[in-house]
Amino acid sequence: MSLAGGSGFLGESLARFLLKKSYKVIILSRKPTRSENGLRYVQWDGQQIGEWSAEVDGSYAVINFTGKSMNCIYTKKNRQEIVSSRLDSVKVLREAVKQCGSPPQVLIQAGSLAIFGDTALLGDEDSPHGTGFSVGVCKQWEAEFFKEPMYGTRQVLLRIGFALGKNGGALEPLQKLVSLNLGGTVGSGKQYISWLHVDDLNAMFLEAMESDRYSGIYNATGPHPVTNKAFMKTLRKAMGKGWAPPAPSPFVWLGAYTVMRTEPSLALTGRNCVPRRLQENGFQFTYTDLEEALRDLV
Ligand SMILES: NC(=O)c1ccc[n+]([C@@H]2O[C@H](COP(=O)([O-])OP(=O)(O)OC[C@H]3O[C@@H](n4cnc5c(N)ncnc54)[C@H](OP(=O)(O)O)[C@@H]3O)[C@@H](O)[C@H]2O)c1
Repeated sequence: MSLAGGSGFLGESLARFLLKKSYKVIILSRKPTRSENGLRYVQWDGQQIGEWSAEVDGSYAVINFTGKSMNCIYTKKNRQEIVSSRLDSVKVLREAVKQCGSPPQVLIQAGSLAIFGDTALLGDEDSPHGTGFSVGVCKQWEAEFFKEPMYGTRQVLLRIGFALGKNGGALEPLQKLVSLNLGGTVGSGKQYISWLHVDDLNAMFLEAMESDRYSGIYNATGPHPVTNKAFMKTLRKAMGKGWAPPAPSPFVWLGAYTVMRTEPSLALTGRNCVPRRLQENGFQFTYTDLEEALRDLV
């Protein structure tokens, strides 16, 4: 099976998981072609059909994780790259699948719960979309993915929540803050974190690959979102740290731009989403309790 953009935080974790399930995994990456730790990396540019498209032909499944990280300052250049890296890769993978003599059974696209914007209202897949740059990115991304029906290839899009894993992702900077005794409530603390353990996310991708019941859009998140205040308190507890002073919004703005070099909205906004369609499909979560999930990771 082929993992486009599979060299990043989520892709590497899924690749290792699939190897253990005896899948042969090929990662499409902009870095040179090579083999490493049981994985074959094949070079592509995420824009144009090339030799890499032979890897897609005959693949059981194709999963696309490609996209410039949203964890940056939204300058004009970064905004353009955030959008184009996502839309171009979706387009070129669709072209590659269309040209296959033996097309994949399923094409799975990573999306984001950011499509719901900043809201504390409990919502599922059918909730209204929000407003703002990230929402616009997600809407274009989904529209491009479902632009054309793909006969013979099932299409699934997983709107991924706040994925908690080791060595990267959104948890790493929060862990650093807690270890420095700076892991207090962020901003108002009322913004919701729709979290899930990366082990559950990997299991979701596997089920979406192997089960014909999966088609269309799913909220790929855990069943119990929490507020930022509750999240930070649980993280401090899991790391054996006591109370830490809250970080008021102006402090977060300043720290985000000057120290973290990222958008403050990533920490100050949130959404309260549940995985209704996954639960309707009978998906079994390993981690539904935040403290248990964090204790496993930190
Ligand atoms: N992590 C989360 O909690 C989370 C939550 C919601 C949604 N998502 C979405 O899930 C996907 C994967 O997330 P991740 O955390 O694994 O991201 P990541 O670690 O940043 O990996 C993304 C991969 O995309 C490729 N890439 C980056 N910029 C690119 C560009 N300009 N053109 C072409 N390829 C580019 C890179 O591969 P090469 O450098 O090898 O080419 C990189 O390894 C992303 O689309 C992200 O928006 C993630």
